[in-house]
Amino acid sequence: MRYNNSSSGEECPLTKGRSYKYTLSMYCGDGLKFIISCFTILTISITTTLILQILYADGSPQDKASIHGAVATDYTNCSQIGSKILRKGGNAVDAAVAATICMTVVAPHKTGLGGGGYIMIYNHKEQSEPIIVDFANNTITDNFVQDEIRIPAVLKGLEHAHKLKGKLPWNEIVKPSVSLAKGGFVVSKELASEISKNINYEILYGHINAGDILKLHDLSDLLNAVALEGTNVLYNGSFSQKLLHDKVKLLKLLPQLVNYKPDVYIAKKSSFYKHAIYYSPHMSLLKSMITALENLKISTDNTSIVETDIEVAKTLINSVSIPLQIKQYVKEERYTGVVAMDWEDTYVCIITGLSTPFGLGHMSSVGFLLDKADTNNNLSTLVPIIFHNEKALCGLRGVFGTDDILIIGQLLYSIIVRQLNVSEAVEHPRYYFSSDEFVIENDPKHSIDALIRSQLNLIVQLETDSILKSVNVIIKRKDLMSSHSDSRGGGLASRF
Ligand SMILES: *[C@@H]1O[C@H](CO)[C@@H](O)[C@H](O)[C@H]1NC(C)=O
Ligand SMILES: *[C@@H]1O[C@H](CO)[C@@H](O)[C@H](O)[C@H]1NC(C)=O
Ligand SMILES: *[C@@H]1O[C@H](CO)[C@@H](O)[C@H](O)[C@H]1NC(C)=O
Ligand SMILES: *[C@@H]1O[C@H](CO)[C@@H](O)[C@H](O)[C@H]1NC(C)=O
Ligand SMILES: *[C@@H]1O[C@H](CO)[C@@H](O)[C@H](O)[C@H]1NC(C)=O
Ligand SMILES: *[C@@H]1O[C@H](CO)[C@@H](O)[C@H](O)[C@H]1NC(C)=O
Repeated sequence: MRYNNSSSGEECPLTKGRSYKYTLSMYCGDGLKFIISCFTILTISITTTLILQILYADGSPQDKASIHGAVATDYTNCSQIGSKILRKGGNAVDAAVAATICMTVVAPHKTGLGGGGYIMIYNHKEQSEPIIVDFANNTITDNFVQDEIRIPAVLKGLEHAHKLKGKLPWNEIVKPSVSLAKGGFVVSKELASEISKNINYEILYGHINAGDILKLHDLSDLLNAVALEGTNVLYNGSFSQKLLHDKVKLLKLLPQLVNYKPDVYIAKKSSFYKHAIYYSPHMSLLKSMITALENLKISTDNTSIVETDIEVAKTLINSVSIPLQIKQYVKEERYTGVVAMDWEDTYVCIITGLSTPFGLGHMSSVGFLLDKADTNNNLSTLVPIIFHNEKALCGLRGVFGTDDILIIGQLLYSIIVRQLNVSEAVEHPRYYFSSDEFVIENDPKHSIDALIRSQLNLIVQLETDSILKSVNVIIKRKDLMSSHSDSRGGGLASRF
């Protein structure tokens, strides 16, 4: 076995050459390669390769056994918590659930136990239709709306997915995040900057800088109880009694908390350049966008020319701007996507978020922020995506999630039609819709081609410190798995 570590001190944990008890699904016989890309906000540039490449030159059984799975999140320790779960024998559902609980601890501006989201689960060997656990749509009910509070749905959603498809005991999934909240975690640049924007957030978390250690004792107590006794401690137990200071409101809300259940249904499917694309059924706009791109019938010879990029951009923008549903689009990044793949070829995307960064901004006495809800459910823009080649079992397949339909179009085009590798596809400069205009990224790492920019008449350029929406992706070609955590989100993918 040889591996080639050309990267500069990149965080990219390796475990190699050990024998594990798992049987890998290695039905594609593409030699034995595993590549993981590690990028950080500080070091990445599109053209600089800071990629750790591990090449397993020959296919001895031990080598096979060392290729297991990957987890990509916006925070490196959360990816690691996920990959540790895989190492313990957990599957992709266990890993993604554990990593998401971790994100609720380290990124309260983007997600939290007060929020909601979607989970998509798919097994490529079984080729069954992906299921979706929806804990976003049904989180706004009458009483909660009156009080502008979302039913805190994340734990119920995660527990539901774990009960359906998880392998490891629940306790082992939650425990790593209890330790992280209790022992403290390193505050990310993004969290520090979000907290500094508002004095109220500084009251909640203190005046903290990026790199400081933050401990969340109340949250760790809650998670510890959840680990030991299940989520009922929050929905119908001692912690639910402490959720709100206002006893009158609390009495109204408790019955709804007790009865809260996520919805589960089958994903919707569309065809795109000979690939099946699965998404949540409420995203009807996505179907028309996919169809519009499909109708361009772009030939592979033409994918690297600027004219094609322009045509694609125009098509994407037209397909989303005409139906005016675009009004829902939210400017701030207030979601986080966790993706995982395991050796059984299970793919999972968990996308969770809040209506606005930090939700209502009031700390409940059980250690997390409740989310703000109005009748316009802002979490309905969250979409998990899974795709695979329709004909070839060993063809390209992958998983990601975001809250922006325009980004989905750009990524599907880059990965499936342009056949960019996962790092290039994720780090490619993007255009967004923001409030009532299209904007393009223009920071040193993500700067769109000047010709495309002028051709598109994009109205304003984003300032460098403006929205940067993170999309973490894992793809597989034959038996080769590649994962990439978006440098916009600040995390690194971890694999086992
Ligand atoms: C987080 O990651 C860093 C770097 O890999 C590691 O040193 C640290 O122990 C991790 N912390 C936890 C709580 O896992
Ligand atoms: C809530 O807890 C009470 C008391 O433990 C129990 O009687 C009741 O069945 C629970 N309700 C639900 C919906 O689980
Ligand atoms: C949300 O749920 C309601 C009923 O539970 C259903 O009628 C509606 O279509 C759902 N909306 C979305 C966007 O999924
Ligand atoms: C490639 O693009 C050019 C210019 O847009 C176009 O004229 C040509 O028909 C395209 N070729 C194919 C095979 O689609
Ligand atoms: C939901 O999004 C809309 C449109 O961006 C925004 O006006 C509204 O304030 C958001 N709702 C909440 C609760 O943040
Ligand atoms: C992805 O593509 C870029 C540009 O072609 C290349 O520099 C990089 O090495 C590739 N990365 C991987 C992991 O193959």
